Formats: sequence, C-alpha cells, structure tokens
Amino acid sequence: MKLNLVQDWIDYDKSLLCQQDYYLNNGVSIYLLEHPYPVPSLLTNSRAHAESVLEVIKANLADLPEQVRILDIGSGSGCFGANLLDAAKDAGCLDRLQFIFSDLSEQAVKELETSEMLKDFHNHIQFMQVDALAPIKLKDISVITMNYVYDALPMLPVNNGQKMQVKLLEPVEAEPNPFPMQNLVLESRWQDYDPEDEVQKKYHKYLENDLYFNYKAIEMTDKLSQLLCPNGFIAVAEMIESKSKLAFDLYGNTCAHAVSEMPIIRAMEAQGMEALLAKDSQLMRIFFFNNPETKTKLKDLLYQEFNQTTRTDKLLQGLQN
Ligand SMILES: C[S@@+](CC[C@H](N)C(=O)[O-])C[C@H]1O[C@@H](n2cnc3c(N)ncnc32)[C@H](O)[C@@H]1O
Repeated sequence: MKLNLVQDWIDYDKSLLCQQDYYLNNGVSIYLLEHPYPVPSLLTNSRAHAESVLEVIKANLADLPEQVRILDIGSGSGCFGANLLDAAKDAGCLDRLQFIFSDLSEQAVKELETSEMLKDFHNHIQFMQVDALAPIKLKDISVITMNYVYDALPMLPVNNGQKMQVKLLEPVEAEPNPFPMQNLVLESRWQDYDPEDEVQKKYHKYLENDLYFNYKAIEMTDKLSQLLCPNGFIAVAEMIESKSKLAFDLYGNTCAHAVSEMPIIRAMEAQGMEALLAKDSQLMRIFFFNNPETKTKLKDLLYQEFNQTTRTDKLLQGLQN
C-alpha cells in the first residue's frame, strides 16, 4: 500500500492524535447513537451512574453550603446532568442543588441551553463555556464532576525513561472522508525522554512505573481543586485502562487516550487531598476530597456504591439480558 506522510515523527502528545478540534467544532451530535462513529457515553450518561454520584452528594449534604453548586466539566451531551437533576427531584433534594453545565465547545453549551431535556430544571441550572485548563472565575463549588474528560486530554505514553513518538500516514488511494483520522496509518517508536515542557516537568515526579503520563489531567484536577469549598469533592469517572496495545481508541475524528490514574492520585495527595479509587468492569471512579474527614465519613457508602457489585455492573447485566 502506497502511503502519504500526514505528520512526521513527533511526540505522541503533540501529534494530531491529541488535537481537540473535534470537540471544539462539534456540538452534542457526536454522542448520538445514529452518528456513524459515536463517542461512547452510555455508562457515564446512565441514570445508574447519576444516582450513584447523587448518593454521595446526599450523604454529604449536612456539611455542604445551603446551595450546593455542582460544576460539571466537559458536559458533552448533558445527559449526566439531566439524570442527576431528575434523580435529585425524585429524592426530594433538588432545591439544594445548582448544576453548572460546562464544556470546551461553545456549540455544545449553546445546544444545551435550549435543550428540551433540561426545560424542567431552569431554576437549578447554569451554562458556561469553560476551558478547564485555563483560569475559571468561580469559587465555593461543592462538587466537581468529570465524566470521560481525562481521556479527551493530551497524554504521553512513557516506558523506562523513554517516550512514545508517532508518525502518521494515509493511503495514497484513500477515499475523501469527513472523518480523516479514520484513514490514518500509525507508526510508533520510543525515544529517550527528558521533559522540557513546563507542565510535564512540574508533574514528572509523580510518575513511577506508569504507562501513560496524563499530565494535562493532573494539571486540570490541580486547577479545579482550587475552586472547591472546604468540604467539597471532585468525582471523576473514566474508562478503565485498555488492554489493547494502542494507547487510544478512535471515535470519528477524536481519540480517547488511555489513563494511568496513579500519577494523578499521587499528585493530588501531595496537595493534601484524600483520594478514593474504585473500579468495576467498565468504569473507574476517583473521588478527591478536600477534607480527609469527608472520606472517612463517606467510606461505607463509597464502598457500597463503588466497590461491591456496582450500579454500572448491574446496568451492563441489564443491557446484556
Ligand atoms: C469524551 S467527552 C465526554 C462527555 C460527557 N462528559 C460524557 O460523559 O459523555 C469529553 C468532553 O470533555 C470536553 N473537554 C475536553 N477538553 C476540555 C477542557 N480543556 N475543558 C473543558 N472541557 C473539555 C470535550 O469538549 C467533551 O465534551
């Protein structure tokens, strides 16, 4: 097969694979099942997942401000927020909640603003176009939720003091494709690694024998933690590490990059936060608590919701039956 060069050898995190234009230039349509290459969102947008997160918020209500402000980063289709608000209505605690939908994509935010799905909640919602890697003018946030956001950020595969570089090609005969990344042929190689990038340098000390250096995810979590109120927490849901050799899954014109959670946890623990990690068959959850007592208080509930057979497992069983 004859190939044209699309991008010559370059660090993985600087390559086209890590560009975020696809999210920036699209609204909520990329998540719809009728899309030719939908971005997966079934689990994080399920009622089951929203109910689990709501249980943790409910158990903490007495220690949170009267108005519990939830900032959802990278809301995408907005279904997680809609489910969480609906579950709160059923649980009788909607009056306490203000939910801020936010996304890097202005188009996604605009579409959410006029979404029928959210029309019953207009007293409890706000919308913001937000780049969570840039300064955000918000404070006293009680809960920050991030579903499948880490995997959307640039990341660098690392191995024994080496970093991954990629070379991207496409077949000369390739048909024009509205999703040109689908045509890419990838070569990879390992090169000696000495971080020059300021952000990589800052967080490099948290790497041990980890496969993926999700330094942008660390930077984002670090920045967002500054917005939390004293008893606030961050709730992350992310895909579990892929067993495939590739460091990413391709959906349309965007990649979901693998996540090594431990460097993120080590970095946040070094900032004085307490972390709790739980995985089921499909989802990994990480909670970061500002106040260690919150974790102690919620331990049993967190164990019940996220370590025993979880709602995601049950949801999957239901879908398979
Ligand atoms: C894989 S999608 C997940 C969407 C939704 N949370 C879900 O679970 O279906 C990743 C989302 O993160 C958003 N995103 C990526 N980088 C971001 C950034 N720097 N700040 C805020 N949002 C970002 C994207 O626009 C996209 O909506």
